[in-house]
Amino acid sequence: MIPFNLPPYTGAEQGYIAQAVQNHVISGDGEFTRRCSAWLEAKTGCAKALLTTSCTHALEMAAFLADIRPGDEVVMPSYTFVSTANAFVLRGARIVFVDIRPDTMNIDEKKIEPALTPRTKAIVPVHYAGVACAMDAINAVAGGRYVIEDAAQAVMSAYKGRAAGALADFGCYSFHETKNLSMGEGGAILLKDKGHVERAEIIREKGTNRSKFFRGEIDKYSWVDVGSSYLPSELNAAYLYAQTERAEELTQNRLDSWRYYYAELSALARRGLVELPFVPPECEHNAHMFYIKVKDLEERTKLLTFLKEKGVHAVFHYIPLHSSRAGRQFGRFAGEDLYTTQESERLLRLPLYYGLTPADRSVVVEAVYDFFGSRRFLS
Ligand SMILES: Cc1ncc(COP(=O)(O)O)c(C=O)c1O
Repeated sequence: MIPFNLPPYTGAEQGYIAQAVQNHVISGDGEFTRRCSAWLEAKTGCAKALLTTSCTHALEMAAFLADIRPGDEVVMPSYTFVSTANAFVLRGARIVFVDIRPDTMNIDEKKIEPALTPRTKAIVPVHYAGVACAMDAINAVAGGRYVIEDAAQAVMSAYKGRAAGALADFGCYSFHETKNLSMGEGGAILLKDKGHVERAEIIREKGTNRSKFFRGEIDKYSWVDVGSSYLPSELNAAYLYAQTERAEELTQNRLDSWRYYYAELSALARRGLVELPFVPPECEHNAHMFYIKVKDLEERTKLLTFLKEKGVHAVFHYIPLHSSRAGRQFGRFAGEDLYTTQESERLLRLPLYYGLTPADRSVVVEAVYDFFGSRRFLS
């Protein structure tokens, strides 16, 4: 079976993990965490990057920093992972879902304005598949409200030459094993404004000013605010550090596979049998994902089964949040669901990971062709 995903591994991870063990610092904020943060800051141009235990937790930190309170509304797409919404529901927010654009599967920037109310506190664009949302329009329509990027899938992506995740007030990255760069479970929050750094450090360190204490800025630390434990272990940071050193190569390797799929499957797209991803010219993507869209749910179900029989593990996601039980309880859909449900039912993700071999990706392509008919006839 060709797996859907394999966690990225460069070979240097074990050496760095051993080094963390030898340093006798395996809890958070040691040498490897500092190196990863410095890399993120240099790479993205954000004022401060703090590693977290997940992107989910980075989003929770953003919800604290944006001071989300019961009754506040937070606008986001329904076509996203549960954590995008959950992080704000935990603070008592009501979620206002808006429709996506069918071309990029990102939030439709034109649908945001009609969804705003005096209670809207934040907007959360999700850079689906590592392709950035229309951030200029989104920041403009926000009119001073917080904009929090769910950039879980967008590490190493850019919009108009600027790093995704550093395009708004807060950006949240994921380093889960399914992401382009990984640390097993992990993430980061990127802060645009230096003014948020002190509170972010406190929230991340159980509501204490321990970060200041560790830097020798105060002689004891104590409980100063609300917070939780959002800092990852050095063992995880050591794994990630190895990946940051080879980030360009990891991305390039994925892009090679992405471009191969795109070129090889174009004949199917020309015949209207599938739709391929669209990347707006202002976006540089990171090949986080390669998806195709087929006719409808029934065809997708058949194709998934067919690919499995051919030894190819393909997957789909998401069940739109507004149609899930918790989504109905904690949110509402503003405007019309023209594309969210329809497009989500047609989407299928092909295997894509660092190190996917040319032989395996060609098996994937041939299997997709076999489903639609003869390759010779269709090319
Ligand atoms: C859009 C989006 N947001 C948030 C998350 C949560 O990331 P994590 O698993 O690091 O908490 C994911 C993970 O798949 C995601 O795809």
